[in-house]
Amino acid sequence: MSDKELKVLIDERTLSQRIKELALGINAYYGTKNELTVVCVLKGAVMFFCELAKHLKMPVRMEFVSLSSYGDAQKSSGKVSALNLSLPPLEGKNVLVVEDIMDTGLTLNFLLDFIRSKCKAKNVKLAVMFDKKCARKYPLVPDFYAFDVDDKFIVGFGLDYLEFNRNLPYIGYYE
Ligand code: IMP
Ligand code: MG
Repeated sequence: MSDKELKVLIDERTLSQRIKELALGINAYYGTKNELTVVCVLKGAVMFFCELAKHLKMPVRMEFVSLSSYGDAQKSSGKVSALNLSLPPLEGKNVLVVEDIMDTGLTLNFLLDFIRSKCKAKNVKLAVMFDKKCARKYPLVPDFYAFDVDDKFIVGFGLDYLEFNRNLPYIGYYE
């Protein structure tokens, strides 16, 4: 892990309040009648996905894909590994991709390309917990995001450092 001290950036209560607010915005956008396929990008989005899904009011299908771009460092490897990309037929469906953090945008650029070209979904939108705008290399903007974050490496609530810290109920950083 790290010799440095772990500081709290966003506490548990603030996280859950803001994620609930985001879910209300998503409910308002889609309405409560039509089904929505919500795609969780494992592993990092797992906590955000569950917290968000609790407050969605339309009929929801949950799907999971597994991607990796970071390797074991704090900088993007520049390459996406698709560990599991199996999705059911999405033709004509509303799809919401849910990711932990958009950094360079490489991972989501890859996944959105894949879903748009292979799956013929009616509509594909993107919800991220953190938008790290300053690191962006691909011209992507999330449709829904909970927090902006500056160029620091954060952990907790799904986000890892060397695969640890995903279980923390808050967002922290090492200082
Ligand atoms: P991107 O492909 O460069 O946008 O990187 C996105 C992925 O990198 C995320 O899904 C995270 O898994 C990881 N990542 C980016 N920034 C952070 C961070 O600050 N903490 C932990 N993981 C991060
Ligand atoms: Mg991730």
